Amino acid sequence: MCGIVGYIGEKKCAPIILEGLKRLEYRGYDSAGISFLNGNSSGVVKSVGKVSMLEEKLENQSLDYSIGIGHTRWATHGVPNEVNAHPHFNTDKSIYVIHNGIIENYQPIRKRLKAEGVEFVSDTDSEVLPHLIDGFIKKGMSLFEAVRYSLNEVQGTYGVAVISINEPDKIIVAKKGSPLVLGLGVGETFIASDVNALIAHTSRIVYFEDNEIAEVYKDRFYAKTITDEKIEKEIIEVKMALDEIDKGGYDHFMIKEIMEQPESIFNSMRGRLLLGEGTARLGGLDGFVERLCDSKRIILSACGTSWHACLVGEYMLEQFAEIPTEVEYASELRYRNPIINPDDTFIFISQSGETADSLAAMEEAKRRGALVLGICNVVGSSIARKSDAGVYTHAGPEIGVASTKAFTSQLVVLALITLLIARRRKVSLVDGMNIIQEMKKIPQKVEKILKLNDQIEKIAENFVDAKNFLYLGRGYNFPVALEGALKLKEISYIHAEGYPAAEMKHGPIALIDENMPAIFIAPKDSVYDKVISNIEEVKARNGKVIAIASEQDDKIDDLVDYVIKVPDTIRMLMPILTSIPLQLLAYHIAVKKGLNVDQPRNLAKSVTVE
Ligand code: AGP
Repeated sequence: MCGIVGYIGEKKCAPIILEGLKRLEYRGYDSAGISFLNGNSSGVVKSVGKVSMLEEKLENQSLDYSIGIGHTRWATHGVPNEVNAHPHFNTDKSIYVIHNGIIENYQPIRKRLKAEGVEFVSDTDSEVLPHLIDGFIKKGMSLFEAVRYSLNEVQGTYGVAVISINEPDKIIVAKKGSPLVLGLGVGETFIASDVNALIAHTSRIVYFEDNEIAEVYKDRFYAKTITDEKIEKEIIEVKMALDEIDKGGYDHFMIKEIMEQPESIFNSMRGRLLLGEGTARLGGLDGFVERLCDSKRIILSACGTSWHACLVGEYMLEQFAEIPTEVEYASELRYRNPIINPDDTFIFISQSGETADSLAAMEEAKRRGALVLGICNVVGSSIARKSDAGVYTHAGPEIGVASTKAFTSQLVVLALITLLIARRRKVSLVDGMNIIQEMKKIPQKVEKILKLNDQIEKIAENFVDAKNFLYLGRGYNFPVALEGALKLKEISYIHAEGYPAAEMKHGPIALIDENMPAIFIAPKDSVYDKVISNIEEVKARNGKVIAIASEQDDKIDDLVDYVIKVPDTIRMLMPILTSIPLQLLAYHIAVKKGLNVDQPRNLAKSVTVE
């Protein structure tokens, strides 16, 4: 999704802004632009495509500017072209605006401004902003007040940064529903929509909340609400090493993040397992554990991969915590009349913590009085801040658009929450200790699976030209089938569907022929024999079968075309292990197709529009 980077200080701003925008490339975008100020001169440069193309365009320009704002755009209103790219400006090009989010009432505003004689050059919703601001300035307002008044007129979401040639010592920023942070340096201030973009320069971060606006100078800032109340902002020290957001010698972020899983999984459980008590300690839930354990119902809600984690969580909670559990697409929740009671607990799961659909569903759950918890990876993200309490996954920054290590860490945190509730309800000390022992062995087992990378790469060679794939699993491994199919779709653009294996005979079996590869997730568990019968059914129709099977399963080799063997663990933890070969398979197929695995077409890392 769109990215914002800004700089005000003594240095030349362009290299700083370009570097910041590159750090946001993983979010997905289709065009980029930048505008600068120095005294009473200004400039704006835009390009379609990558930030490197914007960089090329800037090469022959004198860039002696020390205030600037840059943007990467992910098209919502109007095609990706230079005119629609940000920054947008007013008629005399004295005001420049970059905007993330959507202005829902842009059409009536645009119509009114047009009637007043304003000429619009782009098709975007965002372009109304510089013209609105211009109108208030012409009435004698300062830039800050003009932005504040303008934002009071718009409905929708925004993260904005505004500069003006007439007040060239400041940047005005504001936030509602789209993230925005400041980075405080010495005699310089950075602005970004994501802390990753400025962590190379400073660790002193200010997070803005919705409906806040600030006037930012190189050495200070003043914040208010957009309804004009003064506020004090806290400065937070963010600990993140720069190499955590670099590729670390790998070709792509996605493979780096897949390979990091022994460590990220370990980090998700570090300090949280109490072996002697057979339970988990989750400091983020302090004060809310009782209410959680007494819930009449738990509703897990999210989008995409995080929604698949919810499905696994449902199996865990029902098996061990014995609390009725449901899973909701966050994107659907507000569009029906959900029955939500004060003794319900919602758990929202999100890697980014900024997914607009999840945030909207969360507001709804809060409005209806439920306890709202969050499981997030990005520290300080909106979901983390707005939930009553929550647990961080601590998987580290995930840059590849296709979620991998964040997913397995979400499963770890769900297992910890399940253990915490289960031990307070029915599960015995011995059973709790057994779960912990198994959890502790997971990082080593993941290491073992990652050693199969070469074998999986060879298997991938056979499927580069496949047009369709079926992913089949049962019980805990049904959500893994859905997640495996999503991974392949996202980065290889091959059509893939996940199904509960037994559902195959109710329809999808009609698709099976020699051109339809089927991936079975078939570890040795209670449904193993039934899954084997499903495999036989596919083989009888000449389908090609890849099986994810247990290490000690020597029967399956003769039955299937390719087998990837993973170590065993208890059922509730098995999805952590079985999902990893599917991540690797999707990765290698996409790489062999020559595709951009880290930034697949049309996708954004953080989906901040509904
Ligand atoms: C994952 O591979 C996807 N890119 C996508 O489905 C993602 O999981 C979804 O958009 C939710 O994101 P979140 O976890 O940041 O809320």
